[in-house]
Amino acid sequence: MLEFRKVTKKYLANRMVLDNASFTIESGEFVYLVGPSGAGKTTILRLLIGEMKPTSGKILYRDHPIQKFSKRQIAYLRREVRIVFQDFKILFDRTVLENVLLSLYILGRKQSEAVAEARKVLKLVGLDDKRSMFPIQISAGELQRVAIARAIAGDSKVLLADEPTGNLDPDTGNEIVKLLEEINSTGTTVIVTTHNEALVNQAKKRVIELHNGTIIRDEKEGGYRAS
Ligand SMILES: Nc1ncnc2c1ncn2[C@@H]1O[C@H](COP(=O)(O)OP(=O)(O)O)[C@@H](O)[C@H]1O
Ligand SMILES: [Mg+2]
Repeated sequence: MLEFRKVTKKYLANRMVLDNASFTIESGEFVYLVGPSGAGKTTILRLLIGEMKPTSGKILYRDHPIQKFSKRQIAYLRREVRIVFQDFKILFDRTVLENVLLSLYILGRKQSEAVAEARKVLKLVGLDDKRSMFPIQISAGELQRVAIARAIAGDSKVLLADEPTGNLDPDTGNEIVKLLEEINSTGTTVIVTTHNEALVNQAKKRVIELHNGTIIRDEKEGGYRAS
């Protein structure tokens, strides 16, 4: 479903942020993308949503090269490949429900349909009863859930979560991981970046490990030792 073929990325001359990275992710997989800060994890996610082009190599979505997509094709890609950024990008002057609704209006949903769909995903993330609250009234873990709800609303096929447990205490982080696994079990492909060793070790999922832009490991039921 997703493939990196010998991808390199330089932001500035000479400094290789991704170096000859290749991997394939099949539909329905759950993958941890791990590595220390600065390894290139977020760069991979940004390349996957076509936010920027690789310096060389190919990035394929359903066998189509993303780096050659038109603006229109990129917009279509982003209906299916959805990202939860580290800083959530929640709108604080909107309620929980309105935050999710906005992403559905962007997809062109009509109001009644959007409300039904938004409430469905809010139920899935366990927040339907807090739908009328404002972001300031809910916890950090709940904010992460809102961001996830927004990302899976609509036509999502792939969910990219950038360090979704990064700002959470371990218990809350584990609940978020459970939620991501639940979303994966409904058929959504999930890619999670993290440098949380404990979380990845207990998960027994596929692990792709990056160091300084190079993939040093790709294991089916990997663990991860931060170094
Ligand atoms: N927009 C940018 N311009 C220049 N350098 C960048 C930019 N974004 C990231 N980098 C650099 O690329 C490297 C990888 O960054 P990133 O993909 O954010 O790593 P990670 O998410 O694993 O922490 C880092 O050295 C970072 O400083
Ligand atoms: Mg990052």
